[in-house]
Amino acid sequence: MNRLPFNKPCLAGREFDYLREAIESGRISGDGDFTKKCHELLSRQLGIPAALLTTSCTHALEMAAMLLDLSPGDEVIVPSFTFVSTINAFVLRGAKPVFCDIRSDTLNLDERRLPSLLTARTRAILPVHYAGVGCEMDAIMEIAHRHKVTVIEDNAHGLFGKYRGRWLGTFGSLTSQSFHETKNISCGEGGALLINEPAFLERAEIIREKGTNRSRFFRGQVDKYTWVDIGSSYVLSDLLAAFLYAQLQEWQKIQARRQRIWQYYDTHLKAWAEANRVGMPFVPAHCEQAWHMYYLLLPSLNQRQALIAHLKQLGILSVFHYLPLHLSPMGLRFGGKTGDCPVTENISDRLLRLPFYNDLSEADQARIVSAVRESRPN
Ligand SMILES: Cc1ncc(COP(=O)(O)O)c(C=O)c1O
Repeated sequence: MNRLPFNKPCLAGREFDYLREAIESGRISGDGDFTKKCHELLSRQLGIPAALLTTSCTHALEMAAMLLDLSPGDEVIVPSFTFVSTINAFVLRGAKPVFCDIRSDTLNLDERRLPSLLTARTRAILPVHYAGVGCEMDAIMEIAHRHKVTVIEDNAHGLFGKYRGRWLGTFGSLTSQSFHETKNISCGEGGALLINEPAFLERAEIIREKGTNRSRFFRGQVDKYTWVDIGSSYVLSDLLAAFLYAQLQEWQKIQARRQRIWQYYDTHLKAWAEANRVGMPFVPAHCEQAWHMYYLLLPSLNQRQALIAHLKQLGILSVFHYLPLHLSPMGLRFGGKTGDCPVTENISDRLLRLPFYNDLSEADQARIVSAVRESRPN
């Protein structure tokens, strides 16, 4: 019996050719030809002023936090159901996290809770498009605008998804992307900062280059470069950019492949889920999702753990996801309490993600589906 992993890195086509080209060019540090090609492809496709590749989504978030010039005590509103980096990047700059619960349908930040969480100290709202399904951006942008608060999208899951016909990642002033191995499009470790508000671009380039104006120097705009601001080493190697470009070029094929995988699960598990009171992903009609993951919501923690164990016995790796951030050791230090985010607390115990990678075959999916259907959570 071959084992089915939860995730597997997959090639899109020209990765080896481009890696060879990068090596033979004699320039494998950052901001070489492949980085420029990725910047161009991302900004043209999304119709945004600029995209900057970074060493990770975590680092793109750290850059965003630096760009905001936060002061200690400034507040940042973040869903409790997200990856630690979404908020840790801001805490590093002295911000206080304000944890927001999620909607029980899309598992995205619940925009209806924002008015009660905003204070005079709120500086930013951080929507995370969970599983690549858009947050309610109309409402979030309207509230942010009214309160003069910056929106920074964590779009780690949502590249090439849309909300009301507009690309995810193009609503906030800044957006973080991830190209980690687990993402639809990947280079192992990598990310990007999308710059939607041009005023942030010049300083973003400086922060990304260790606080220096090296980017301007390379463009011939200054005759030497020097230390001009805070920053760090956030530039991605051109070797990884070469790998990434091979994947980005094939983004439509990758997304189409993942759409088929997602729909296969959804079609073949529907009757079983209904019969067993198991929840399935919900995608509002006005959202075109990014086909990032397929999850099930079991009726209870015990039933979720039992299904993980059952699948494991059959050689299939399924996994849970985020633990509530407000109840983590760090969240508790910021005053988090049980009951603060009841939907997050409940969902986190019940969610299970099925294997999902670009070349998951239909035969393997059929095996996963029949293994799931054998279990009777009720
Ligand atoms: C919502 C979200 N944000 C940020 C990250 C961090 O991404 P990276 O590993 O590229 O730093 C992840 C990682 O999976 C994530 O799920």
